[in-house]
Amino acid sequence: MNTETRRVSDKRERPLRDLRISVTDRCNFRCTYCMPAELFGPDYPFLQKTELLSFEELERLAKLFVGRFGVEKIRLTGGEPLMRKDMPELIKKLARIPGLNDIAMTTNGSLLPVYAEKLKQAGLHRVTVSLDSLEDERFKAINGRGVSVNKVLEGIEAAKAAGLGVKINMVVQKGVNEKDILPMARYFKEKGHILRFIEFMDVGNTNQWNKKDVITKAEIIDLINQHMPAEPIEANYKGEVASRFRYLDGSGEIGVISSVSDAFCASCNRARLSARGELFTCLFASSGFDVRKLVRGGLTDDELTESIASVWRNRTDQYSIDRALSKTDGKKKVEMSYIGG
Ligand code: GTP
Ligand code: 5AD
Ligand code: SF4
Ligand code: SF4
Repeated sequence: MNTETRRVSDKRERPLRDLRISVTDRCNFRCTYCMPAELFGPDYPFLQKTELLSFEELERLAKLFVGRFGVEKIRLTGGEPLMRKDMPELIKKLARIPGLNDIAMTTNGSLLPVYAEKLKQAGLHRVTVSLDSLEDERFKAINGRGVSVNKVLEGIEAAKAAGLGVKINMVVQKGVNEKDILPMARYFKEKGHILRFIEFMDVGNTNQWNKKDVITKAEIIDLINQHMPAEPIEANYKGEVASRFRYLDGSGEIGVISSVSDAFCASCNRARLSARGELFTCLFASSGFDVRKLVRGGLTDDELTESIASVWRNRTDQYSIDRALSKTDGKKKVEMSYIGG
């Protein structure tokens, strides 16, 4: 941290540590739980290029988050981040920021065979690839675009070959892909990649979420334990959303992200910049703070820093805790494709 850096904490004493940047609201998949094809059709009003923060604007904001607030990790998301043109150029700009130790990307993997090497060379450290099944027919139905499992596995291999760190995300839905929990665990245990099981969440307003469709962390771990015993281990860093488990045979680890059955809001230290340049202080927020307007309105770095700090200082969000207390019904939420998870 340099001398100008100061941590800013919210009303629940949670510091701002992590930044997630959504670089586009577009995606070449139509996952049923995120961008259902019936609703995200050919006429869907996706953002125009001028509405997105430019790479220069993103670089400026990233520098402020790192230099002024001590953020050390930035994750790029979408939609599908690789749908944005020239992503390696953005990574190069971010990689030059002193103090930014971790640049990661969450991607559906389909474009990694084309980009993995260039992303690595530009300075990306790691990717997290979403994959919900190893069964072709099931995966094609879930991704809504008929993309085969092999396409994503090729992406994972390309990332590994390029020297990028690789983790896998699997959204688990009852009655949809619960049968895939064990095959996925076995496959990625063998491959040596960390697989994280994600409880199906009520993101956005369109994914028809029902609590009955959630397979909980306890259920997932029970199932894994019956076949491949595992024990809990410490988090890598404060505010890590995944609970970690290590296989007792020493062959690797898995994670579970339990927003529904075991909320982690108490340690939530993430800010999110949406594709259109709004600052969100929760994945489930109704609205964001218009940073783009300030950036384009000629504010100085000091003024911009103060505005962002004041948003964070006033933050009280704890949606997942409130959900567990049934205090969230009917609330309108930002769509996942604007905010990237
Ligand atoms: P690491 O940097 O490797 O720890 O990755 P990550 O888990 O922070 O990022 P990733 O994009 O892989 O997110 C995994 C899952 O956790 C996705 O389904 C996200 O939507 C979800 N997630 C990430 N951060 C939060 C959060 O603050 N709140 C909730 N409820 N879910 C989150
Ligand atoms: N519930 C849980 N995880 C989700 N993701 C997208 N939609 C949901 C949802 N409704 C995951 C994606 C990706 C990450 C950013 O969030 O699969 O891995
Ligand atoms: Fe695209 Fe990821 Fe959403 Fe699927 S979950 S539609 S891959 S952004
Ligand atoms: Fe943070 Fe909101 Fe997720 Fe809670 S629900 S962990 S406050 S992003």
